Amino acid sequence: MRPTGILGIGYAVPEEKLTNFDLEKMVDTSDEWITTRTGIKERRIAPRHEATSDWAVKAAEKALADAGVSPGEIDLLIVATATGDYQVPSTASIVQHRLGIPDTAAYDLGAGCSGFVYALDQAWHAVRSGGYNKALVIGADLLSRIVNWRDRSTCVLFGDGAGAVVVGETAPDYGVLATYLGSDGSGAESLIIPAGGSRKPFDEEALAAGEHYLRMTGNEVFKFAVRIMEDATREVLRRAGLTPDDIDLFVPHQANIRIIEAAAKRLGVEEDRIVVNVQRYGNTSAASIPIALGEAVEEGRLKEGHRIVAVGFGAGLTWGAAALRWGRGPAGGAP
Ligand code: ACO
Repeated sequence: MRPTGILGIGYAVPEEKLTNFDLEKMVDTSDEWITTRTGIKERRIAPRHEATSDWAVKAAEKALADAGVSPGEIDLLIVATATGDYQVPSTASIVQHRLGIPDTAAYDLGAGCSGFVYALDQAWHAVRSGGYNKALVIGADLLSRIVNWRDRSTCVLFGDGAGAVVVGETAPDYGVLATYLGSDGSGAESLIIPAGGSRKPFDEEALAAGEHYLRMTGNEVFKFAVRIMEDATREVLRRAGLTPDDIDLFVPHQANIRIIEAAAKRLGVEEDRIVVNVQRYGNTSAASIPIALGEAVEEGRLKEGHRIVAVGFGAGLTWGAAALRWGRGPAGGAP
């Protein structure tokens, strides 16, 4: 097995901001309620004419440039998304063509907000085993397209964006150290779009009932999230032979500040070791962790050699954690 990790990172978010005060004019809510219950102050919304692949491409171009890798070198492309351009074909195939990546394996991965960590795990295994050489992993979601803008219990929570990483060989002891993924389908209905699939094809009845929008039992997801963020972090650290004290930076899925703070408290991770940007972007689903990682690099908080844990939870219900030593290591890793 060869050491494998993240060679480059990029993210892209729309310019248009939707603030809590804007939402006060749309639904029966308040800046005070949203801020105290979620920590979110504003989120970004993609222009109507743009689709998830457009944002996936923007993030991927930055990640490729950051890694110094050309599209022609990519031989595996995974797009984690719950809001693909179409039901068929995959968004990954569209992105592959747009980036000029030659006939690679390209597919979408559906694990809700855990999708980026799931995709990173798959790419890590694929490259470290020698089956593939360089993978492009993208987390991209336009949640604004699937929330009901009349449902105050969901529409205030989400935003749009994309993040991407290039996965390839690193120096020994760098890159991904361990991963831990899981799913508990007994919670499938707590985060669901009831219509538009084979269970209930989209029709006039579904339209009238608003069943083509995302529905969430918020407090069930909340309880699950706090427990699983702690459990998944502890398990991935155990697999990596580390403890919470060894983590330089904790990079949780950005859904709700209360979930992040509760999990961090249980783990004994102080504020200055946690990446939080939920106040500016809301929950961007599969994009949230790569956006948080990308910002941490830009701000100089995440540096070569740092040990980090990225942990997410989402629809499924699913969860995923990855422990990494950031960077390529001495001499920039292997070619
Ligand atoms: N503005 C004002 N009031 C609201 C709003 C709003 N935007 N939304 C709900 N309320 C009301 C409710 O109607 C309820 O009123 P009632 O008591 O009169 O019935 C009251 O506020 C309390 O509602 P709760 O649902 O109990 O509020 P809670 O403290 O649980 O917070 C929240 C709700 C923020 C959704 C929380 O449960 C949460 O964050 N859950 C996790 C969600 C999450 O992380 N989802 C992402 C999963 S990842 C993925 O795959 C997409």
